[in-house]
Amino acid sequence: MLSGKRILLIVTGGIAAYKTPDLVRRLKERGAAVRCVLTAGGAQFVTPLALGAVSGDKVYQDLFDLTDEQEMGHIQLSRDADLLLVAPASADVMAKMAGGLASDLATTALLATDKPVLIAPAMNVRMWEHAATQANLETLKSRGVGVIGPDDGDMACGEFGPGRMTEPLDIVQAVIDFFSRGRPLAGKHALVTSGPTHEPIDPVRYIANRSSGKQGHAIASALAALGARVTLVTGPVALTDPAGVATVHVETARDMLAACTEALPADIAVCAAAVADWRTADAAPEKMKKDGKALPSLSLAENPDILAALSTGGDKRPALVVGFAAETEKVIDHARAKLAKKGCDWICANDVSPETGTFGGDSNRVHLVTGDGVEDWPQSSKARVAETLAQRIADHFAAAAQSVDQTSE
Ligand code: C5P
Repeated sequence: MLSGKRILLIVTGGIAAYKTPDLVRRLKERGAAVRCVLTAGGAQFVTPLALGAVSGDKVYQDLFDLTDEQEMGHIQLSRDADLLLVAPASADVMAKMAGGLASDLATTALLATDKPVLIAPAMNVRMWEHAATQANLETLKSRGVGVIGPDDGDMACGEFGPGRMTEPLDIVQAVIDFFSRGRPLAGKHALVTSGPTHEPIDPVRYIANRSSGKQGHAIASALAALGARVTLVTGPVALTDPAGVATVHVETARDMLAACTEALPADIAVCAAAVADWRTADAAPEKMKKDGKALPSLSLAENPDILAALSTGGDKRPALVVGFAAETEKVIDHARAKLAKKGCDWICANDVSPETGTFGGDSNRVHLVTGDGVEDWPQSSKARVAETLAQRIADHFAAAAQSVDQTSE
């Protein structure tokens, strides 16, 4: 079931670490090769000797161990794995992963990897329910990290509730499901645009908008999690590049169009970027000076419409082109009009009036407008919206493949 799969098991600090030799044994029974990284916290609950004995491999503990680095650099540890499994995943390691810290061997391997990551959280119920942990969880999910559990139950600390590490056999099942889960978008290339664009006025000033890029980045991660090869073309954002996604950074709408054209052919295009509609007709080559006389006036030129260009791309048109419509009123009507005007296949319409907090916020309410009608999705996190959209895209391709099969019978 797991034969030939190489798993890097990262054991962090928590009482549940005592269950990890059993987890290793059960993964190995199913054919996986397991190599362990043990944090200082994890080593308080399970010994390297125990993990080494069951894994049949060296247990890695220290980032700056010269022999370890010569034998197996920390980058190589994650390169050599098909999957990184963090079990138990403490609140601390989740926070470090969300924040991009690389303070020990475990977090360095997690930051350096472009391999899929599954975590099995385990902590006290209050720590689990704390807003900080929940925010970290959403961040990790939006980057494509898979989460196993935690389970409800009695805890070592005497409390009851969610926070108990999922039992080893169930973790093994989740790993099997991960590997056998159809990666329904395998073989497909998805192009995603994200973030705002910056249109220079002069070398230090620019026209921009409030887009954070959170939704577009989450979509790139969600498509990659379903097996697609993803190119993300992003304007300037304060986000880390999603793992396992080829990310191209651009500034202006024209750069974004050029990068998208360069990335073709693609099977799927999702245009989530808030592209500036206008740029200055002539950006000043030097910083404009205040001379106390006439106020400068900007003359604007229209930017290329990337969504429309991809939708009408002739031979190179992606099979499915999805746009977004950020509206503050008559959301569905405007989305329908946009679908027709731009020539795309689907529009994810969302209300971005200031009171919804969508722009820059963490949640979104989407109405998917297609040629067949409108689907109202519940208000949910941008990560969840991204997963729903990616799954909807996978279902669309599965249905299209099935109808081709039936016609050829
Ligand atoms: O016309 P409007 O900006 O409302 O359309 C929004 C949709 O069009 C989004 O999918 C956005 O990414 C895309 N768009 C684009 N290029 C532009 C303007 C919008 O790709 N210049």
